[in-house]
Amino acid sequence: MIGSASWSLPHVPLDLQPTPVEELNRLRDALGGGPRLLVKRDDALTFAFGGNKVRKMSLVAADAIAQGADTLITSGGVQSNHARVTAAAAAKLGLPCILVLNGTPQERPTGNALLDRLLGAEVRYVADRAARAPAVEAAADELREQGRRPYVIPIGASTPLGAAAFVHAVAELRAQIDPPDVIVHSTSSGGTQAGIVAGCALAGMTTRVIGISADEASAVLERDIRAIIDGIPPLLGIPVERFADLRVEVDDRFVGGGYGVATNESREAIELCARTEALFLDPTYTAKAMAGLIARIRAGDFKNAGSVLFWHTGGQVGLFA
Ligand SMILES: Cc1ncc(COP(=O)(O)O)c(C=O)c1O
Repeated sequence: MIGSASWSLPHVPLDLQPTPVEELNRLRDALGGGPRLLVKRDDALTFAFGGNKVRKMSLVAADAIAQGADTLITSGGVQSNHARVTAAAAAKLGLPCILVLNGTPQERPTGNALLDRLLGAEVRYVADRAARAPAVEAAADELREQGRRPYVIPIGASTPLGAAAFVHAVAELRAQIDPPDVIVHSTSSGGTQAGIVAGCALAGMTTRVIGISADEASAVLERDIRAIIDGIPPLLGIPVERFADLRVEVDDRFVGGGYGVATNESREAIELCARTEALFLDPTYTAKAMAGLIARIRAGDFKNAGSVLFWHTGGQVGLFA
């Protein structure tokens, strides 16, 4: 079980240690000053190359076990971090795993695709994003017909339960440092941001949370995140009104040519963080989030902020894709 005195949820212990919070002084200097810059190192979670999906999986996998599941099924792109973490959790729990991935099989798998194979997941390829849901349903039906008990994990584990892991993560952060004025992080299926926003509210923090979109338009993602937030209170046994009126802020100006397509700003972010801090960002998510943070610092957006925290959500395996 994890949680504070006021709530707790069944938990598979994948995220064993609090992740470090570090200063980014050399990056701050390279940007010509600005607010105190901090990073929360969820890229340093020890399980299966870490990242935000490990936190979510610790709760979601516990639910799968509680429901008597004998197979985990999920979907994503060929280089999905979430798929890799699902395959890793399945391996650790001794369960088979089916991944429905859109894209084409690589002759020599790289990055997450290589890890999926090493982890023993069965990978079923589909042509595009639209083909994923029917293929997942077909796989689940197939197993049920054999008398098995599949557990389907939605894209990115961005359910209220997955998001609740970030409510806990904010409590972890609060125990480490005073509340930062701003948190900036990558957002895509929305669960991470939903949990961080809800977690800040629960911890009584007035921190501004800015999600930098990896693909979706701000309006769409903000609506999705609100819906996830609305599902969290019943899990924590708190009144739904507790999370009414929370501000959800998504910035979609750094998507560029689309999901996974590099921009000049994302390339600069990767090199600058590596060269100033030996901090590795991934091309699809964290590089674009950092590009957004850098642009805002240069534009003086945070000149009244005392401290800005970049929540590193992992994905560095993508550098080797
Ligand atoms: C490395 C990384 N960062 C950020 C995200 C975005 O998190 P979420 O899907 O919870 O919005 C993802 C997954 O989509 C990811 O793999």
